[in-house]
Amino acid sequence: MKSKLFFIAVLACLIASQSTAQINPNKYRLQKKVVVTRGAVVSAHPLASKVGVQILKQGGNAVDAAIATQLALAVVYPGAGNIGGGGFLVGHLSKGKNIAIDFREMAPSKANRDMYLDSTGNAQMNLSQDGHLAAAVPGTVAGIFASMKYARLPFKKLIQPAIDLAEHGFAISKSQADDFNEFHNEFKAMNTSPVAFVKFVPWKEGDMLVQLNLAATVKRIRDLGAKGFYEGETARLIVEEMQKGKGIISYEDLKNYKAKERTVTRFTYHGYEIISMPLPSSGGILLQQMLGMIADKNITALKFQTPASVQLMTEAERRAFADRAEFLGDADFVKVPVKTLVNKKYLKERMNDYVDGKAGSSRATGAGSFKESEETTHLNVIDAAGNAVSVTTTLNGHFGSRTVVGGAGFLLNNEMDDFSVKPGVPNMYGALGNEKNAIAPGKRMLSSMTPTIVLKNGKPYLVLGTPGGTTIPTSVFQTIVNIIDFNMSAEDAVNKPKFHHQWLPDVIDMEDDFDATSIAALKAMGYTINKRGSIGRTELIQIKKGKIIAVGDKRGDDAAEGY
Ligand code: GLY
Repeated sequence: MKSKLFFIAVLACLIASQSTAQINPNKYRLQKKVVVTRGAVVSAHPLASKVGVQILKQGGNAVDAAIATQLALAVVYPGAGNIGGGGFLVGHLSKGKNIAIDFREMAPSKANRDMYLDSTGNAQMNLSQDGHLAAAVPGTVAGIFASMKYARLPFKKLIQPAIDLAEHGFAISKSQADDFNEFHNEFKAMNTSPVAFVKFVPWKEGDMLVQLNLAATVKRIRDLGAKGFYEGETARLIVEEMQKGKGIISYEDLKNYKAKERTVTRFTYHGYEIISMPLPSSGGILLQQMLGMIADKNITALKFQTPASVQLMTEAERRAFADRAEFLGDADFVKVPVKTLVNKKYLKERMNDYVDGKAGSSRATGAGSFKESEETTHLNVIDAAGNAVSVTTTLNGHFGSRTVVGGAGFLLNNEMDDFSVKPGVPNMYGALGNEKNAIAPGKRMLSSMTPTIVLKNGKPYLVLGTPGGTTIPTSVFQTIVNIIDFNMSAEDAVNKPKFHHQWLPDVIDMEDDFDATSIAALKAMGYTINKRGSIGRTELIQIKKGKIIAVGDKRGDDAAEGY
């Protein structure tokens, strides 16, 4: 009997040690693609993807893995992974339920419509983008606890990898070293307390980043739950930091922050069911509008990135973004005619003035009329039971406000810039807005984040999303069309060049490697082309013929893991 018990104990230890296989924070490689059968995670950092898969192997579901990955990203990908920002989670659970969790930041109670205007009414965009006053009340931690309702494992297990990575450190990648060096002066200018990302000698690949203050904050969250962030010591450190730099987030603002469960945006396109994020993200509505505008045009026959297909998609993008600027804002505060904006007849009519082979014009296009109105990060998870989770989370700009909460070790967002600071004045992504997206206390700023799941016969087929500010919905749009209409592989759908039109400015942004012949033909149609660097970092999981294909974008350190 004794030897039997001993045997069982040894077996249990073996299984446990296998399932908690150590992640080596000093050594990892960029695995861009996996093809597996049980579960996969793809995110902006290899260590975060590994954490997610470890949680799946320990019996967690896709929500558990998404939470653990997100927390790990807050440590290993500080440019956008965060606890000082916000985001959105879209999920499809294996029993068929769709979920949307809104943890978008909120304007502090002392915010007001004209807070970024000087005495002559000019917008001071540095204040909405840099430092303390740019920060809105963070939503990420509340979002994580709202998601716990769908998780299976204890929270302590999900947060431990983030604690370990913050406390013991991890080796930074080449691009992270370059980033820290590039932002050195900004971190110094925007902070009065020591910042873990600032050293006296330049960073280089392989240096260890240890974040002890962040580890202490994450431990408070482990021990006290959401109160470990929104109340007590962390709240005190946030409010003290605010006082150092004319920020306005108060104890009450933190205590009152609530994540909200929303009803997903849901529609069909060419026989697939698509679920995405509703307001306060514009992403789901824009995606539905753009796909709706091209749905009856047989884009497959036009072929991938020919002048004709790029023109059609550009004109859909132009019209959707014109509507965004005019009609969209936080629907808890303003009236938004969502049903009209996604109505099939309305979308068909929006394309009435589309002329094959001739560039449209944003001056002539405007918003539709009817009677009534970059730096972010994305992760996807699929588990063996078929639960799928798509999360986009953000600090807004790269490293957000660049202000780290002294003693708490995390970066604050600069999400206030996603409001329309003044009608007609573009934000950092060039997006325009009006009163619908004006600042008001407690309001959520309009987002472009588009965490999306595509279902085929009611089961997850694609799980996708990307960072990239206003380019997010257009990148998700193109990735879906690449797969559904152009029958492309997951890898190509992610990595082939992307383009972007957002109504104003009236130009097509194109990645540097976009086909030169198509560019010449589009110029001949009358389009202005703006060549630029990377558009987004799309993460994609495709479930096809019993296989899970997970792909991390070639454009960054993005990595896929699975088993
Ligand atoms: N901060 C980028 C977005 O929410 O769209």
